[in-house]
Amino acid sequence: MLSIVLLGTGNLAKHLFDELKDKGNIKIKQVYGRNKKALSYFQKDALTTTNFNSIEEASIYIIAVSDDAITTVSEGLINKKGVLTHTSGSVAISALPSSARRGVFYPLQTFSANRVVNFKEVPICVEAENNKDLEVLKKLASSLSGKVLEVSSSQRKDLHLAAVFVNNFTNHLYQIGQEICEKSQISFSVLGPLILETALKIKTLSPQEAQTGPAIRNDNGTIEKHMKSLQNKNHKDIYSILSNSIQKTHGKKL
Ligand SMILES: NC(=O)c1ccc[n+]([C@@H]2O[C@H](COP(=O)([O-])OP(=O)(O)OC[C@H]3O[C@@H](n4cnc5c(N)ncnc54)[C@H](OP(=O)(O)O)[C@@H]3O)[C@@H](O)[C@H]2O)c1
Repeated sequence: MLSIVLLGTGNLAKHLFDELKDKGNIKIKQVYGRNKKALSYFQKDALTTTNFNSIEEASIYIIAVSDDAITTVSEGLINKKGVLTHTSGSVAISALPSSARRGVFYPLQTFSANRVVNFKEVPICVEAENNKDLEVLKKLASSLSGKVLEVSSSQRKDLHLAAVFVNNFTNHLYQIGQEICEKSQISFSVLGPLILETALKIKTLSPQEAQTGPAIRNDNGTIEKHMKSLQNKNHKDIYSILSNSIQKTHGKKL
């Protein structure tokens, strides 16, 4: 049986808690949060505390707090015997205290409130400093997901950077698309099938093969019309940078 103390009460902490609380081989002993109200979500199924001095002993401590708070929170756990892990894509394992059994437990997915995620499909990137701790983290990860990967801090940093491009930037482009639709009183939902197909086709095509649009076709007349239609300077800059990047990647000049 693996015992867990979860630190943090935000998006990821809630998703992990909901996934782990009913697993037979896992016991969430306690949830720590600095905000008493936020702990009410966890109270029915685990002990909760706002007091750092009353944190229980556990096999694994999962520190699911904001990236900037990981070091401070982990320093309060230096006397614990279990493996101290954080859950961030961009923070190195060395951000945890060197005297501790250090590890990383990074689920590569976007977690938001009120969105159910199929954890079985979520790649979980684990890192530890010795085989014994790695096995403990792999055991926890495999109880959640069929995709467990051993990833170093340096690889994880690059993975997270790539994830920002494919997820955060793409989502921002959706927002720009929505604003453009709204200006013309068209429902953004009309673009839904296009968005889905764009995401699904990279299952069988490389991004290079899947690229379409005026920039790769070198349709400069269309590009000029689009640039004229755009009134927001920020949107113009983004359109121009991305079109240039597509043309450079595919060997043509804008
Ligand atoms: N959400 C995702 O999609 C996702 C995916 C993979 C990995 N992660 C990683 O998971 C971690 C948590 O992210 P999240 O999205 O769950 O963030 P979040 O929803 O913003 O929650 C952040 C949590 O950190 C707590 N916190 C912040 N500073 C603290 C401090 N000094 N002491 C104690 N608690 C503190 C907050 O407490 P208060 O409520 O009191 O402010 C809150 O419970 C981050 O390292 C993030 O990189 C997130």
